Amino acid sequence: MNPFSATISRASHRFPFLAAAALALACATLPLQHSAAQLKEKSVSSSTDPWWKHAVVYEIYPRSYQDSTGDGIGDLNGITSRLDYLQKLGVDAVWIAPMYPSPQVDFGYDISNYESVDPQYGTLADMDRLIAEGQKHHVRVLLDMVLNHTSDKHQWFIEASSSRTNPKHEWYVWNDGIPADSPGVTPYQKRFEHDGPNGKVVPPNNWISGFGGSAWEWVPAVRQFYYHEFYKQQPDLNWRNPAVEKAMFGSMQFWLDRGIAGFRLDAIPSLFEDLQLRNNPELGGINAQGDPNVGNTYTDNLPEVHDVIRRMRAMIAKYPGDRVLIGETYLPNTAELDKWYGGTAHNELQLPMDMLIGFHGLHAKLSAADFRQRIEEVETQIHGAQPLIVFDNHDNVRAIDRYGDGIHDDQINKLLATMLFTTRATSLMYYGQEIGMRTTTPTQRDDVRDPIGITGWPNERGRDGERTPMQWTPGPQAGFSTNPHTWLPIPPSYKTINVAVESKDPNSQLNWFKKLIALRRDIPALHGGTMTMLDTSNPDILSYVRSTGSGPAVVIAMNFTAAPKTITLNLAGSGVTGTTVKTFAASDATLTSISTLNNITLPPYASWIAGVQ
Ligand code: NOJ
Repeated sequence: MNPFSATISRASHRFPFLAAAALALACATLPLQHSAAQLKEKSVSSSTDPWWKHAVVYEIYPRSYQDSTGDGIGDLNGITSRLDYLQKLGVDAVWIAPMYPSPQVDFGYDISNYESVDPQYGTLADMDRLIAEGQKHHVRVLLDMVLNHTSDKHQWFIEASSSRTNPKHEWYVWNDGIPADSPGVTPYQKRFEHDGPNGKVVPPNNWISGFGGSAWEWVPAVRQFYYHEFYKQQPDLNWRNPAVEKAMFGSMQFWLDRGIAGFRLDAIPSLFEDLQLRNNPELGGINAQGDPNVGNTYTDNLPEVHDVIRRMRAMIAKYPGDRVLIGETYLPNTAELDKWYGGTAHNELQLPMDMLIGFHGLHAKLSAADFRQRIEEVETQIHGAQPLIVFDNHDNVRAIDRYGDGIHDDQINKLLATMLFTTRATSLMYYGQEIGMRTTTPTQRDDVRDPIGITGWPNERGRDGERTPMQWTPGPQAGFSTNPHTWLPIPPSYKTINVAVESKDPNSQLNWFKKLIALRRDIPALHGGTMTMLDTSNPDILSYVRSTGSGPAVVIAMNFTAAPKTITLNLAGSGVTGTTVKTFAASDATLTSISTLNNITLPPYASWIAGVQ
């Protein structure tokens, strides 16, 4: 199992009802590019909320988006060349996974220089051009900031591991180890025995790397272990040392000064470890990498991290333009998520990701009741802060494959998109999601590029499957590269699942995504209205109403089952009194002319969105 999934008003102006309906029709018939671009202008000029509150953020894995040089690897100029596409899709910001210089052990999440660009992705000038061109396209650039660890090839670690007296030594987390014959040492710890200055030593506790093996690696030159939550080539920084914070904040400022709109903070709950080095709880059994299953009580989400985040928020608040901090926050419950906003103080991250909605278990089934409860929780338990929901990223099997039943996968992908774009939450999507790209996991170990898929084979096959090149066209290499040797193979599905083919099909995934994003941008109730759940005891249909109190309210209903289901929606209690119903968008043709809230039959996995006035 993948380690990440284990646990794992702008309503100020009135929008004429009929104009909204006309827009929905236009979206269905006109080239959507046109309407999306117009809508963008509208919302940008009329909103007083910070931009990120209503944004669609789009994650790009730079190796896999667009190759402009013919080396088979995506790059920054490739992304710049696709800004038109992103603007027409309706994206407000791109989050680019790490593009800094890196030995690429973890494909960029092992950074060796935080203030430059890896030559395989381009140059600093290319990044400056991407930011500037992005501005012209109303697409902001967010960078991935990896604060928990550096690469072992970072100059800091090279110095730190050269001697105990080197000034950089204390920038990382070191330990002398404990005598191998200490009481309580487990046979597993004994596997990592070394010659210390006074005899045999083993790692000080049972901490396991998320990527396999002990989390402690021995360095003969200093006769000490260093701690690494991820690969041994990713030593953890010592955030108890103020010099580390100063340096990392400095690097963040380097990019903020160049005009980036904010950061996605990698593995941010992991910055601190228990000072007493207590053992994590043993959970029994072994994981895909062959290590004992242990919890992360003493290595994850320690309270100390919040002090850093508050200072970070104060630092970015000095910049104009509503710079934003997004967190990679896999957390056990909504109460913990709330702390990442700063609770009532709202002084930490603006957008910690709610992973409890889109990633609640790798093999979770689609369940209307389950999603209702999870969405309600984040609506009501984060002190009025802004939720951020997400279903797909570069670390997990794509949602279409996790939730798909093999028969209705396309409908299910559309249903997930309906949830993503019609709740009150900010939306975070992943490249390829908008065309229904499939997870294409290697079928033999020799083809695997992600190290955890090599060491964990066959139980853990790594994350290559969700990182395959973007499928642009049905032509050579799917339009991703001119080079037949792309860094990961082009999935066979590219002939039919690609941007060019789907642009021409009014019922494609791509046009569904465009339509939803356009509606959300243009209809005040969807853009910034309140949200009330409807029909709350229905186990099969998730439905809710969005409303600003004036203008059309918007009703959304989704069938979470493989059978047709008939519903009658009662708006009493939601404050919405209108009775004129007009369909704005429907994923199934049988729903497009519905003009009532009574006895609506939703086909399997269908979504229906309608205005009520
Ligand atoms: C989370 C990132 O999303 C993942 O890809 C990476 O391997 C780890 N953090 C380590 O940086």
